[in-house]
Formats: sequence, structure tokens, C-alpha cells
Amino acid sequence: MSRASFDVLVVGAGAAGMMCAAEAGRRGRRVLVVDHAANPGEKIRISGGGRCNFTNLGCGPANFLGENPRFATSALRRFTPQDFIKRVDQAGIAWHEKTLGQLFCDGSAKQIVRLLTDALAEAGVELRMRTGVDRIARKGEGWSIGLSDGSEIATASLVVATGGKSIPKMGATGWAYEVARQFDIRVTETRPALVPLTFEAGLLETLAPLAGVAVEARVASAPAEKMRRARFDEAMLFTHRGLSGPAILQISSYWREGEPIVAAMAPDHDVFEALKAAKAANGRQAVHTALSQIVPRRLAENLCAREGVAGNLADLSDKALRRLDQAVNAWTVKPVGSEGYRTAEVTLGGIDTAALDQQTLAVKSVPGLYFIGEAVDVTGWLGGYNFQWAWSSGWAAGQVC
Ligand code: FDA
Repeated sequence: MSRASFDVLVVGAGAAGMMCAAEAGRRGRRVLVVDHAANPGEKIRISGGGRCNFTNLGCGPANFLGENPRFATSALRRFTPQDFIKRVDQAGIAWHEKTLGQLFCDGSAKQIVRLLTDALAEAGVELRMRTGVDRIARKGEGWSIGLSDGSEIATASLVVATGGKSIPKMGATGWAYEVARQFDIRVTETRPALVPLTFEAGLLETLAPLAGVAVEARVASAPAEKMRRARFDEAMLFTHRGLSGPAILQISSYWREGEPIVAAMAPDHDVFEALKAAKAANGRQAVHTALSQIVPRRLAENLCAREGVAGNLADLSDKALRRLDQAVNAWTVKPVGSEGYRTAEVTLGGIDTAALDQQTLAVKSVPGLYFIGEAVDVTGWLGGYNFQWAWSSGWAAGQVC
């Protein structure tokens, strides 16, 4: 059995793990990164539709969920979006702001992976892929770690950067939670987030003609607790299974089974007033035609059919027009579930932040153990926030591990 000694072992060559390892390596620490996947940074590679939404200019604690959303503040302040942009600029990677402060590569997400692997190489970090961890044991002040390649590693610091459970096909395992349990560290409830929501069969049948229709919507959660009340103005997409699009992915992080969501599908229109005006101008116009001036035609037809409002505007009462207004801008619907970890962009919940030092991400009760990135109970909105948390938390641990 081969034995080797390092100062830092980072498990997980994703966004957080590579950032942390490069920082520790720069400080002169001898660092080994292991990952069971074939290639580092696979989620970065597929992120942002292949262009990686690598940060958000407006990133702050308000864009995060978790039992203590303010936990992220320290790391986010010490390594900011501007700090990461500086590195992107130094690497000569061209980028643009798409919308709502979201920054994407002009070219390919692979450039961000390269930025990180180059940083590892420059810092003298050893990267061992296709390698997992079989065994973790305390040894004196440090750790004795058995790797799946049969080697035994002695290390002072152990950094867990294995992410969450989303997209198991890409190697996501939830292994971080097992490590937490081994050391009596609480893990908050975990669930798929930034994920499409699904409907029951009956409702799906009614909405079937709408698959592929997109609207600029205002979507809100309607829970009892204040903490989970949220509202997003972004695109919403009808699918064969329910709803998707940025507004739905965002609200999925706040939604719980049994609760409705409320969608305004023409939030900038007073639909009742618009239909009244259309009626006054041309009473012989069919109501679905008038409504299709406000929402996509297929949606207008479907809404009129569902509300049982048909015929010419002249023949319709104010009550009927108000019903359509409600159906467009106060559509209250109960999803039955989500598409789950198979497609979720992130895992909500994770390592209890109460167990961690917010400046260093070190476990307070276990010297030399760190959790960073998505494994921690810090979950960002859609829009580059999750990568910024990975960079910031990885950077913070990298200064001390
Ligand atoms: P990450 O999951 O990146 O890395 C964990 C690493 O650990 C992986 O390499 C994995 O192979 C390895 N690993 C897991 N278990 C292991 C084990 N037991 N042993 C050894 N290795 C193990 N965010 C954003 O801000 N902007 C965006 O554009 C997108 N886009 C996006 C698209 C898609 C399709 C997904 C699924 C997700 C996004 N995200 C995103 C979210 C973002 O990808 C995510 O928040 C970060 O990758 C989290 O970084 P981590 O380093 O914490 O985990």
C-alpha cells in the first residue's frame, strides 16, 4: 500500500474544491484533490447552457436560502463577484451580462474549467481523478484517509467539496452528508431545488395544448411561513409534465408539497380593462382573439375554454371578463411534485451552518475538517449565485486549511 503525506486533502474537483485547493496551494500548502469522476468541473462544463453563468453582479445574502441565510455574508464579502471577474479577465476570457446581473462566458464554459485547472497546476496541486474515499479516520491532530486507489493519505486538513445530490448521472452522491453523520454534524432537510414542477394527470390533460408556450410571468409562492414567501418576474414555460422556465425554477426552491403557487401571466396588463376597451372598440371580436393580444394565442384559447367564456365580446358580461382577468393574472395552481434530483440544478439544505465557522467554513467541533460549496446549507437563486457561493466558500477555506 502506498502512503503519502499532504497538508490538505480536498475531496471533490468541482467549483468549490478547485478554488479552495488553488488558494491553499498558493499559500505553499501541499495539496491533493481527489474526485471519483473522469474529469474535473463537469457541472461547470454543462452550466449556463454551455456558457457558464459564473457569477452575478448583484450577489448578496438576500439571494440565498438556508436556515441561516446570513451565514454566507462573510465569505461573499471577502471574495466578491468582482474578485472572480478579475480572475476571468486575467485569464483572457471574454464575458457579457445577459440579464439581471448574470455574467456568462462569450465562448465556452470549458474556459472556466481551464481557469481552475491552470490555477491548480500553477499552485502545484496534485489532481487525482477517478479516485474516491473509502475510509476516513482521525489520526492525532490530523487525518488518515484510505483512497479507492488503495493508497493511504495522511493529511492535516480535510476539505469536503463533493456538492449535493443533484444530477446523480454526473456523479453527485450526497457523500458530504455521510461524512457529517460520521462526526455527529447535523444535516438539514435536503430537497431538489431550481427544478421544474409537475402536475397531476387530470390537470396535465387540460393543459396539454400549452406544452411549449412561454410567457413573461410573475410567479409567487403562497406558504404560511414568511421565510418562504417569494416572487419572481421571469419567463415561465408550459411543459409536457407541468411548468418550467426561470420563474418556476426560482419558485421551486420556496415551494413545498401541498402548497399552491400563484402565477400572473400578463403581470403588466389589467386584463379586465383591456377586454372592456376591446369590447367598446369592436364588440364583434371573439373573446379569445381579444385575449390573444395580451397572452399567446394558444394560452388565450385554452384559458377561454377552461373558464367556459366563449363568443363575441359584446355578448359577455363584466363578470365573465373579470373571470378571465383572474385566470390570467391570479392563476392559483397546486403542483404535485418536482422533476427531482434528476434535473434539479442544486440541492436545497445540507450541512447545518450552525456547525461551521462562517469565516473559514471549518467545522467548529472537529479541528481540520471543512465543508464548502453546495454541500453546505446555503442555496442560491438561479443566476450565477450558486457558483459565486462555490468560489467564495472555497476561497475562504483555502486561506486557512
Ligand atoms: P460540484 O457538484 O460542482 O462538484 C462536486 C464534485 O465532487 C464533482 O466533481 C463530483 O464528481 C465530486 N464527488 C461527488 N461525490 C464524490 C465522492 N463520493 N467521492 C469523490 N468525488 C465526489 N450555478 C450557477 O451559479 N450558474 C449556472 O449557470 C449554473 N448552471 C447549472 C446547470 C446545471 C445543469 C446544473 C446541474 C447546475 C448548475 N448550477 C449553476 C449549479 C452549480 O453547478 C453548483 O451550484 C456548483 O457546481 C456547486 O459546486 P460544488 O463545487 O459545491 O459542487
